[in-house]
Amino acid sequence: MINKEQLNSNIPKHVAIIMDGNGRWAKKKGLFRAVGHENGTKAVREAVESAAEIGIKYLTLYAFSTENWNRPKLEVETLMRLLVSSLKKEIKTLQKNNIRLNAIGNLQALPEKARKELLEVIEKTKDNDHMTLSLALSYGSREELIKTIQEISIKVKNNVLSPHLINEAVINKHLYTKSLPDVDLLIRTSGEQRISNFLLWQIAYAELYFTEILWPDFKKTDLFEAILNYQQRERRFGKTSEQLS
Ligand code: IPE
Ligand code: IPE
Ligand code: MG
Repeated sequence: MINKEQLNSNIPKHVAIIMDGNGRWAKKKGLFRAVGHENGTKAVREAVESAAEIGIKYLTLYAFSTENWNRPKLEVETLMRLLVSSLKKEIKTLQKNNIRLNAIGNLQALPEKARKELLEVIEKTKDNDHMTLSLALSYGSREELIKTIQEISIKVKNNVLSPHLINEAVINKHLYTKSLPDVDLLIRTSGEQRISNFLLWQIAYAELYFTEILWPDFKKTDLFEAILNYQQRERRFGKTSEQLS
């Protein structure tokens, strides 16, 4: 069991998590997938509070991908219902921990009720400044990049922007993540080692951490273990080790 005293002051500023394995967690126990998702929301609360506790400034959670719309209708409905009930319930947790809620993704695609609840919590927590929690909802990195290219193209066409001025900062400004720094640490649970269309641009230099633990079983100590592992790495950003010391 890792506790926070074992961590040093090098806390990653932006941690992103692909919360995977709810379905397999339920299946292993002979339960419906929906029960896995319900228990997944409990793990979300623990991860959010633990991240805030150790001073992570930005936590981004992959909650629903553009590809997840292709799941059975009933499962999609369950996930949207859980989103609404969690938002209603967890606003207290956010306020208590001084956490600002943010959302990334094509929010227009969400059911009206979910979008309304989401925007309400975002508005109510907008002055909180201890941590920014971003929920990736109906999020797909390719969709985000297409939107970005479309917006930039329109500016070029209207002579608002000259093509040779397009740089990383201009692209960042058009992404859903415009208010967030680059990801430092990307965690994926459930043993899968893939990115599944999450933050492709933003993880260019992130450290990747994969764990076999299924999302509903992911506890505070598991987050701390991922941070400890991150702290043992040397981030060279293309330089040599000698240049860093
Ligand atoms: C993650 O768990 C939750 C979402 C993708 C919404 P899964 O539902 O993908 O669980 P597995 O991968 O089937 O176990
Ligand atoms: C990625 O998990 C999306 C979320 C965690 C929300 P999936 O379970 O949908 O991804 P694949 O299908 O294993 O790539
Ligand atoms: Mg999955």
